[in-house]
Amino acid sequence: MSTKRGNWNSKLGFILAASGSAIGLGNIVFFSSNAYQYGGGAFYLPYFVALFVLGLPIMMMEFGMGTLTGKSFPLALRQLAGKRAEFVGWWSIASAMFITAYYVAILGWAFGMMVGAFGSLFEPGITAPFAPFANPTESASAMVYFFSLLATWWPVVFIFVIWGLNLLILRNGTATIERAVRIFVPLMWLFMIGLVVRGLTLDGGFDGAMYLFTPDLEGIADANVWRGAFSQMFFSLSLGLGTMTAYASYLPKDADQVNNSLLVSFLNCGFEFIAGLAIFSLLFVYALNPAGSTLSLSFFVIPQGINELSTIPWITRLFGFLFFFLIVIAGLTSSISLIEGPAAALIDKLKISRRKALTIIAVPCMIGSVLCTLPIIVDQGLNGNGTLGLSILDITDHWVFSYSLLIVGLVECLAIGWILGADKLRLALNQYARYPLGRWFNVLIKYVIPTLLATVILSSLWEERSALYGSGVDMVGFNWLPLFIPVFWLVVSLGFAYYLTKKPYEA
Ligand code: PHE
Repeated sequence: MSTKRGNWNSKLGFILAASGSAIGLGNIVFFSSNAYQYGGGAFYLPYFVALFVLGLPIMMMEFGMGTLTGKSFPLALRQLAGKRAEFVGWWSIASAMFITAYYVAILGWAFGMMVGAFGSLFEPGITAPFAPFANPTESASAMVYFFSLLATWWPVVFIFVIWGLNLLILRNGTATIERAVRIFVPLMWLFMIGLVVRGLTLDGGFDGAMYLFTPDLEGIADANVWRGAFSQMFFSLSLGLGTMTAYASYLPKDADQVNNSLLVSFLNCGFEFIAGLAIFSLLFVYALNPAGSTLSLSFFVIPQGINELSTIPWITRLFGFLFFFLIVIAGLTSSISLIEGPAAALIDKLKISRRKALTIIAVPCMIGSVLCTLPIIVDQGLNGNGTLGLSILDITDHWVFSYSLLIVGLVECLAIGWILGADKLRLALNQYARYPLGRWFNVLIKYVIPTLLATVILSSLWEERSALYGSGVDMVGFNWLPLFIPVFWLVVSLGFAYYLTKKPYEA
C-alpha cells in the first residue's frame, strides 16, 4: 500500500532542503568553538579525514537507504537489515528528539539576542543576577547581556515562537518545507558571505583566518582532536539521526545519490569554511578570548566584536541583528529536518496522520525545550552554567551529542556492510550514478569506518571514567542531575525504541 508520503517537486528543492539541514548551528556555533578549542590549524587534518573517510560514505549510505526503500530510517533499516537494525533506527529517532529539544532552546536564545540587538545588547549599564555581574557594566557587554537574558522567562516565550515556526513549515511536509528552504537557504548564504567580507577586510582580519588554516602538526597526535572532529562531522552533515534517509525517501528511485552526497557535503563544508573565516577574523581583530562553554564564542565573543565594528550605533545594531538572524534561519532549516526524521518514521510505521505525528513529537520535545530554558539560578558564582536550564542542556548535549550519533553510525555500517552486504548497496547506488563507486566503498563501510568509530567511542567512554560529566560544579539542590540525565536518556530512548520496534507492521 502506498500512503501519500509526499515528494520533492524538484531536485533543487531536495538539495536546498538537505543542505539546509546540514548547515545550521553546527556550522556556525559548534564548528568555530570546536576549531578554537582544538587549536585552529590542528583541527583541519582530522576534519578533512572525517569528511572523506566517514562523512561522504555515510551520507551516500543514508541517502541510498532512503531512495532504495522509499522509507524513513527505522523501516529502511528493517527492510535492508532486519528487525534488530530497526531497533537502532528507533533509538536514533529518540535521540533526534532529545537533540531537537535543546537545539530549539539554543535557537530561542539566538532569537532573544536578535531582538536584544535593538534593545540593550549593545548598551552599557547592564547587570545579570549572578555574583560576577552584580554591578552595572561600564560599556556594552554581550556576556552580561546573555546571562541576563538566560535568567528571565523570555527565552521560554521565544522557544514557543521557534516551535511555532517549525510546525508551520512542517505542516504539509515536503510542499511547505520546500517553500521555506527556497527562501531561507539562499538568504543565509548571502548573509554569511556579507559577514566574511566585512571580517576579512578589517585590519588584522586576515591573521585570524591564517590562524585557522595554518596546520599545526603537534595537535594531530591528540586523540581528543580526532574525537572532536568526528562528532563534529557527523553532526554537521546531519548523519546518524535518521534525517538524511527521511529526506532522501521523498526522491524518485533513480536519483543520483553519489552526486547528491558530494553536493550536499561540499555545500555544508564550504559554508563551515567561510563561517570559520568570518568568526576567526573578528576574533583576532578584537583580540577576544573565547573562554567558557561552546556557546560563548557565538553568543558573546562575536557580538562583542560586532560592538566594536563601528562607532555608529545603528550599524552595530543592524550587524548584531543580522548575525543572530542568520543563526536563527540556519538553525530553523536544520530543526525542521531534525523533526521531520521522527515524523516521517512515525507516519510510516504507525500509519497516522502528519498532524498526529507532529503532535506526538512536539509535545515532549517542547517540554524538553522549556526545561533547557528554565531561568532558575543554581550556580550564583557562575562557575559552571549558571541556570538550571543551561545546565540541563549542557549535560544532555554532552551525552547525546557525543555518543548517539557515532553509535548509530557504527551500527548502520555494520548492518548495511555485513547483513545486507556493502556491495549490494554500492551496486544500487552505482545504477544511477554518474561517478560510480569503486570497491573501496565496501572496505570503508565494512572495516575502516567501524574500526574508527569503535575506537573513538571506546576512548570517549574511557575518558568518562574519572568523574561523571557535570558533577564538578555545585548546583545547589540539583547535584543529582549529572547522574539522572544520562540514565533518563538511556531508559527513555531504549524504551521508546523497544516499544516501536515491537509494534506490528505490514508494508
Ligand atoms: N546539521 C545540523 C547543524 O549543523 C544539525 C542536525 C543534525 C540537523 C542532525 C539534523 C540532523 O546544525
